[in-house]
Amino acid sequence: MNTNASERAVLILAPAKVNLVLRVLDRRSDGYHNLWSLMHTVGLEDELHVRLTAEPDASSPVRLACDDPTLPTDGRNLVRRAAELVLDRAAAQGRPAPGVDIQLTKRIPMGGGLGGGSSDAAATILGLNHVLGLGWSVSEMAKLGESLGSDVPFFLFAPCARVRGRGEDVAPLTLAGTRWVVLVNPGFPIETRWAYQRLAESRRVARPLSASLVTLMGRDRLSWNEVVPLMENDFEGALAPVHPALTVIKTELLLAGAEGALLSGSGATVFGIFHDEAVAVRARDLVGRSEGRRAFAAPAGTGPLTCS
Ligand code: C5P
Repeated sequence: MNTNASERAVLILAPAKVNLVLRVLDRRSDGYHNLWSLMHTVGLEDELHVRLTAEPDASSPVRLACDDPTLPTDGRNLVRRAAELVLDRAAAQGRPAPGVDIQLTKRIPMGGGLGGGSSDAAATILGLNHVLGLGWSVSEMAKLGESLGSDVPFFLFAPCARVRGRGEDVAPLTLAGTRWVVLVNPGFPIETRWAYQRLAESRRVARPLSASLVTLMGRDRLSWNEVVPLMENDFEGALAPVHPALTVIKTELLLAGAEGALLSGSGATVFGIFHDEAVAVRARDLVGRSEGRRAFAAPAGTGPLTCS
């Protein structure tokens, strides 16, 4: 274990993600669906301060505080669950830890298809691996994160990856070039489980992957120019009839200069991809001004999650 005091407290920035492609394929025997997705992080970040404490709390080794009172900090919170999982695993490996203190600052809208909870969980695993000096590899951390949520492994391979299976089969890739992303949350959440049910009701069978996607699947270096024309999300068609606001936002983003616009994950956030920061910021102000909406402009992620 690290003994240097400065190494026993770290800050991790947990980014949002968007799905540039999200194809939902067959339903599996475990109830989940096989996915094919191209995911990218976005520089809208939650903040996690992770610190080892000499004196663990009597009731739990994990002390968690969050600035957003609407997010429970009990066993429903993915940060708490991730921390407990890491401490259990570390103890099983003969590395028992004292208590940990985690402060979470939320900026990513919740229930928005932006992977905020999963990103926080991945950041927790990464932060604890660092402060406890566990030396786990990225793959080991991703494996541990699988049980917490389907998007958790992806964040450990940020900023860009092709994701298959339930979300556990992650292959990092390079997306050449830079882009800005405008995220527009319509002001209502969409529950993931409900979105999958709705998708199942809206179609008889899943469409096979297009030839262009199959070609992309084999490559580990792509450019934004190649990917933007291929952006698609199976949830869009299933959710648009129930939530017309999603189509309205998408149209507004395209009219405001987005090269492409799409629903992220199972919604409800819609995002636009922009070449220029100034155009993105204008689009955020324009599309975000309607009542109830929350809009953000941030660069597409450029690197992995890191501890500082
Ligand atoms: O794993 P996660 O918490 O993200 O999944 C939430 C719900 O979304 C699951 O309970 C399941 O109904 C659905 N899901 C799915 N197939 C996936 C991922 C999620 O059916 N690959």
